[in-house]
Amino acid sequence: MINPEEGLCGPISLDNAQTVLFSTGNNAFFATRTSSTGLGPYFVATGCGACHTSDNRGHPFTILTRFGQSDTLGNTFLNEGAPQLGAFALPGFMPEAVPPGATSTRMIAPITAGVGFLEAVPDSEILNIAAANANNPDGVRGHPNWDTIPHFAIILNGSFPRADGKWICRFGRKASVYSILQQVANAYNRDMGVTSSYMPYNPYNYLDQTLQEISTPEVDNTTLASVVFYCTALQTPEPRNATDSTVVYGGNLFNQIGCATCHRPTMATGNSAIAALANQTFSPFTDLLVHDMGPADDDHYTEGTAETSEWRTTPLWGLGLAPNVQGGTSYLMHDGRASSIQQAIEMHGGEAAVSAQRFGALSASDQSALLTFLKSL
Ligand code: HEC
Ligand code: HEC
Repeated sequence: MINPEEGLCGPISLDNAQTVLFSTGNNAFFATRTSSTGLGPYFVATGCGACHTSDNRGHPFTILTRFGQSDTLGNTFLNEGAPQLGAFALPGFMPEAVPPGATSTRMIAPITAGVGFLEAVPDSEILNIAAANANNPDGVRGHPNWDTIPHFAIILNGSFPRADGKWICRFGRKASVYSILQQVANAYNRDMGVTSSYMPYNPYNYLDQTLQEISTPEVDNTTLASVVFYCTALQTPEPRNATDSTVVYGGNLFNQIGCATCHRPTMATGNSAIAALANQTFSPFTDLLVHDMGPADDDHYTEGTAETSEWRTTPLWGLGLAPNVQGGTSYLMHDGRASSIQQAIEMHGGEAAVSAQRFGALSASDQSALLTFLKSL
């Protein structure tokens, strides 16, 4: 396991049996797959840990590309390999390219530490946060991403469908994924070309249409469940120097200028089968809602009820440790195009424009204090 100063791979408090499961999942998460262990024929990276380095943010080297649309707006590119690009292929197979005319989006891996806490937040909390935005004077209007869920989804505690049969989803850059299980099954299948009992087909590649038949699951349910458990039981990133006077001062500014409306400093979990996740207050600095971030952050790509310029508020926990896993620099925002925290803030438009302008209007020393606070997360 990696030093928590560099990575975030440690568990929450677990009993002995859970510790064994966590350790099995940890090994599978950081294992490298090859063609003899199910990789491909199309893939983006060879293991979870290749993209989620030390369970923190990813690097543009392993960026994902999605194209077409995967929702009810109609997908004219499904027969051409949408939604996710098989950017790499085993020898003898043809990697895909985005077909002409398809809109595409690029995403680097978000932080995985703490996702078990995010999953244990009941819908009621997310709906309350959304309702509180209704009269926000800065124009913040976040909403949950309501989407359909896959047949294999296990219903989360405190989660209920809407009248149209859609559920609140919360994972992924546009919050279009319902649960950690769905995310992990998706990742094995689309990111690594590894089939499971949940997603038994190899990703469709329009350049090689012979590959759609069901194969024996390349990851078994036990291994997949251990990886789900590993992610679920990851500890939350802990802030450093929280009592330092500059950090405290910068944290107050963060609240005052409206960053905290979306990047919420505290959330609470509900019931959970895992004792250490039940009824906990924690500090993710997200609201699990999607927000219109303005035309400069519009990727012309929708998922569920998230529009093309709408993104889930990125949890800011682990932000200060991100450069340790990104080669000493920062690659922030969904596509990693911001190379510093300050640049990421300057890219906030739409619903976040007012708070970003307030940041710009702060004195240089106040800006620096706010950045010091963010680096302590
Ligand atoms: C090619 C890089 C890549 C690989 C390989 C990969 N991921 Fe991811 N992961 C991502 C990206 C990008 C997202 C955001 C996806 C989205 O927006 O839909 C993500 C999202 C997630 C999330 C949700 C985090 C959040 O807060 O939204 C979890 C959990 C996760 N991945 C776990 C895994 C596991 C487990 C594996 C291995 C089975 C894996 N990932 C493999 C890139 C990768
Ligand atoms: C209206 C909601 C909203 C407000 C207000 C807001 N943000 Fe964000 N923030 C987001 C969203 C959504 C993203 C993700 C955008 C993307 O990935 O393209 C984000 C991304 C970020 C990131 C990049 C994180 C990463 O890991 O890539 C940082 C840093 C950040 N915000 C800091 C701030 C600060 C500081 C403020 C106050 C000046 C602020 N935000 C105000 C919604 C908001």
